[in-house]
Order: sequence, then structure tokens, then C-alpha cells
Amino acid sequence: MGKQRVKIGIVGCGNISRAYLMTAQSFPILEVAAVADIDLKRAQARADEYFVPKACTVKDLLADPEIEIVVNLTIPAAHAEVALQAIKAKKHFFNEKPFAVKLADGQKMVAEAKKAKVRTGCAPGTFLGGGLQTCRKLIDEGAIGQPLSATAFMMSPGHESWHPDPEFYYKVGGGPMFDMGPYYLTALLNMLGPARRVAGSATIQRPERTITSEPKKGTTIKVETPDHVTGIVEFKSGAVATMVTSFAVWHANLPRIEVYGTEGTLSMPDPNSLGGPVKLRKAGEKEWQEVKLTHGHDGGGKWGIGVVDMAYAIRSGRPHRATGENALHVLEIMHAFLGSGKKGAFVKIAAPYRRPEPLPAGLGPMALDD
Ligand SMILES: NC(=O)c1ccc[n+]([C@@H]2O[C@H](COP(=O)([O-])OP(=O)(O)OC[C@H]3O[C@@H](n4cnc5c(N)ncnc54)[C@H](O)[C@@H]3O)[C@@H](O)[C@H]2O)c1
Repeated sequence: MGKQRVKIGIVGCGNISRAYLMTAQSFPILEVAAVADIDLKRAQARADEYFVPKACTVKDLLADPEIEIVVNLTIPAAHAEVALQAIKAKKHFFNEKPFAVKLADGQKMVAEAKKAKVRTGCAPGTFLGGGLQTCRKLIDEGAIGQPLSATAFMMSPGHESWHPDPEFYYKVGGGPMFDMGPYYLTALLNMLGPARRVAGSATIQRPERTITSEPKKGTTIKVETPDHVTGIVEFKSGAVATMVTSFAVWHANLPRIEVYGTEGTLSMPDPNSLGGPVKLRKAGEKEWQEVKLTHGHDGGGKWGIGVVDMAYAIRSGRPHRATGENALHVLEIMHAFLGSGKKGAFVKIAAPYRRPEPLPAGLGPMALDD
């Protein structure tokens, strides 16, 4: 590989930690030096399962001088607290989404990280997957001309049928917008550039949920945050996207994301995945064409690819792609969706967004740089 490994420490050993541990084992640039959790038993279980040398407290993980990136896989309410501790320890950090719950916390993380000269990162990294990178290439090459508008639909009944601890999805910082919005918004922004303003409506449609997954089967959850969020995003380019995210829809027949341009339409894959299909239909064409993916990283075992990109970036000194700064832009948009209805007006988006460099086509299966 020729590059010195980057040691990472994982904080939060719950459901999604397995996916990151698998990714870290697949990409030679990463080495998991330690795992931590407020529940030490959980940390120990993950360490045993994935042969991680150390299971410890968050404090001990942060004190390890060899760890360069803190990968923060805690619940949303703890994202800011853990990231701010990582910054204090002069470590780069990579948060699971959402970047933070409160906008002020997101702003603080970006400001403090800048002062401490550490990198900020945030999921999702799915826009680095083969499906969405192929879409980005098509947009950049003008395959649909100038993008004019888009639709994005995330319709689901919620997570209480499968997640072992689903309560946090119905508390402030959860809900379909904060949980799934980051995938859809990150994909749209990567195509269309920065957002200008947002108008939305956010409501609680099913105020009580019963958990049907084990081990909490039969427990009732009171829904404390909107479970149906809909509205529009206007982009600085002039394009406009219509978006619905819902945990209150049993079934729907809508596409995930479509982008409509002056010369055709691009149908994008599920942004909560790394693969395809990507479909294109130019003006006047009778059929949709499925486009062969031009980029790799389109399969399983690559969740958390944003961390891999950050590790490569640290070693070569280049910017990484899944930045906290862009995640702050996403966080502001999500708050705007929730706040606009209350305000009865559009909400302007102030945080900057920098379109990440596309990945080169034709990379090796475990590479992120040429
Ligand atoms: N589960 C999924 O499929 C999935 C997918 C993508 C992203 N995510 C995101 O990943 C994050 C974690 O989700 P999850 O499903 O793994 O949740 P989880 O509840 O299964 O795990 C979270 C873990 O964090 C630990 N924790 C909480 N606060 C902590 C703190 N202050 N310090 C140390 N540890 C702490 C908990 O003890 C728990 O083990 C969330 O932000 C979620 O949005 C989850």
C-alpha cells in the first residue's frame, strides 16, 4: 500500500459499529486501535468480535496518543459532546449522522476544530459509492444538460420493527429528516451545489408507536419529533428540489431521487446505499437506459467509506470529502425544514457548502486515491 496506517478509535459500540469495524478490516489504510462505549461490556464484546486490542472508556481512548481519528458512532444526542472532547484531545473526528442535534453545537464543533487545526468529518459517505459517483460524473458531463429541479422521497413506517433500541429515532434529533435526510440532502448537494433557502412543513402523524422488535417488543414509544417532513429546497444554482421524508407511511411507489435537466432526467439510486441502479432518459428517448457504473465501491462492506477517505487525505494532505463543514450545511437545511412551518416563511441557509472533488474513475477495489 505504501502509506502508513491511520489508527482510529471507535466511540459507540451499538448497532452500526459492526459495519465500520468490517470496513476498517477491509481497507489496509485503517487500523482500529481501540473501541469505547459508556457501556464497557458493549465495547468489550465488539473488541472480542473484531480482534480490537483495546476496549476502554472514552477518556482512555482519547488519551491514546496513537489514535488520529475518533469515529463517533454514539446516538445523535451524544454526537456533539463526544466530538468536542475529541477536538480538545487534538484528534480529527468523524461523526455518524446527523452531525449534531442542535445547530449551535454543529457551529461550535466546526469553529473549535478550525482553532485546534483538526479535521471534521461526518456520515453519510454513501455519496462516494459507485452509484452516486456515477451520477455525479453524468451531471458534470452534462448528460441531462443544466439541472433544473429534483425530487427526493424517503417513505417508511419507521424503525421500531427492526432496531433493538429504536427510541432515539422518535426523540428530538431523530425523526425521518434527521435520520434519513442526511443521505438524500448530501446526494442532492453533491449534484446541485449549495442550498439557498428552504420551506417546509413538519408534523407528527403517528404520535404513539409500539416496538415489535426484540428485546423491547411491546414497549410503547411517545413520538416527540415530527415523523412526516415535507418541503422544498432552493439551490443557489436556481434549481429547486421537492422532498418528503416520512416515518408514517406504510407503502409508497415513489422514486428515491430524480434530477430533471434541460436535456433529460437522471434517476438516482437509494442514497442509503453505495450501489446502483443509475438510469438516464434523454429528451425524446422512449425508454430509460440503465447506465453501467463508472466507479467502484458499490457493494457491501464499505460502510463508513468517508473515514477511509479522511485517512487517505490525512496521509497525503489533500482535503477529505465527507466534511463536517458540509454536514453543518445539511444540519442547517434540516432545521430549516422543521422551523419553516412554525415561522410560516422560507428559511435562508447561511453555512457554506463546498462541493467535494469527485472520486477518480477506475480506482482499485480498496483504493481512494490514484
Ligand atoms: N443502525 C443503523 O442502521 C444506522 C445506520 C446508519 C447510521 N446510524 C447512525 O449511527 C449512530 C448510532 O446508531 P446505532 O444504531 O448504532 O445506535 P445504538 O443505540 O445501537 O448504539 C449507540 C451506542 O452508543 C453508546 N453511547 C451513547 N452515548 C455515549 C457516550 N456519550 N459515550 C460513549 N458511548 C455512548 C451506547 O451505549 C450505544 O452502545 C446514530 O447516529 C445513527 O443515526 C445508524
